[in-house]
Amino acid sequence: MKNIAVIGAGTMGNGIAHTFAQSGFEVNLIDISETSLKNGMATITRNLDRMVAKETITEIQKEDTLKNISAFTSISEGVKNVSLVVEAATENVDLKLNIFKQLDETCAKDCILATNTSSISITHIAAVTSRPDKVIGMHFMNPVPIMQLVEIIRGYNTSDAVTNTIMDLSKTLGKTPVEVNDYPGFVANRILMPMINESIETLYNGVAGVHEIDTVMKLGMAHPMGPLQLADFIGLDVCLSILHVMYDGFKNPKYAPCPLLVNMVRAGKLGIKSGEGFYDYSESKKAEKISRQFLK
Ligand SMILES: NC(=O)c1ccc[n+]([C@@H]2O[C@H](COP(=O)([O-])OP(=O)(O)OC[C@H]3O[C@@H](n4cnc5c(N)ncnc54)[C@H](O)[C@@H]3O)[C@@H](O)[C@H]2O)c1
Repeated sequence: MKNIAVIGAGTMGNGIAHTFAQSGFEVNLIDISETSLKNGMATITRNLDRMVAKETITEIQKEDTLKNISAFTSISEGVKNVSLVVEAATENVDLKLNIFKQLDETCAKDCILATNTSSISITHIAAVTSRPDKVIGMHFMNPVPIMQLVEIIRGYNTSDAVTNTIMDLSKTLGKTPVEVNDYPGFVANRILMPMINESIETLYNGVAGVHEIDTVMKLGMAHPMGPLQLADFIGLDVCLSILHVMYDGFKNPKYAPCPLLVNMVRAGKLGIKSGEGFYDYSESKKAEKISRQFLK
């Protein structure tokens, strides 16, 4: 496997393209938006510059990584001659089903189709293709070049051979893959989101304030950041949508989103990206500083 395509040049897509390219893969980075492609390439360059400054990589490795990435605005052009596609487009079921139908028609018959979805069923996505055995979840964590884990999600029909190929490939990228089955929230979000939801419920019930809740979890449980700050970092709208997927999928009230979370999303308080969530990030520099602290 040498040539791969990444669909979506946003937060996750540019990180995935960066990671593959740095490991010597030739990457076609595809996005329908010229602006996203431009911003994605600029982010990759900035992150590589930071790695050179920290002496994690050399200037030559940075140049080689950039040379390995080509940008496309058309899926059919970008997926020619690739043996793996990693889809990291916007989290929307219909959009992803359409992309996978198109990939199934356009890609070589033996091409593996992976998705970076946080919450959509792999089995559902695979069912719109004629190759459900070759559809798999490859759930990278944000920020991709830094985070060690890749959650590998087997759909109902994903073959052993494809699973093994993707597990080995993740190791080639220097990551640690963990194999899980396809149920709502997979493993990462099934455990993380109820914890975040419970911390919001704790705040909502007036048991303690934002700083107090986060401090208990940071200093008492050795978490690198508190659950409310993490929710701000992920995006409160994203947390709400993942809780909805689990609530609908399991029909279990324990996944019901806290009314405070619902209200904050309705009010446009989405966390770092909107300038306010559980914390105030109104000075953009402050938000940037917090992101940088996390990236260290
Ligand atoms: N952000 C995270 O922390 C995180 C973590 C793990 C997984 N994910 C998953 O990764 C995926 C991408 O999330 P993101 O945060 O990078 O989103 P994002 O909004 O930053 O980027 C999505 C990109 O997809 C592009 N896009 C939309 N429709 C497209 C199409 N038809 N063809 C090509 N490109 C298209 C958009 O232009 C945009 O650039 C989602 O499935 C999300 O659930 C996100």
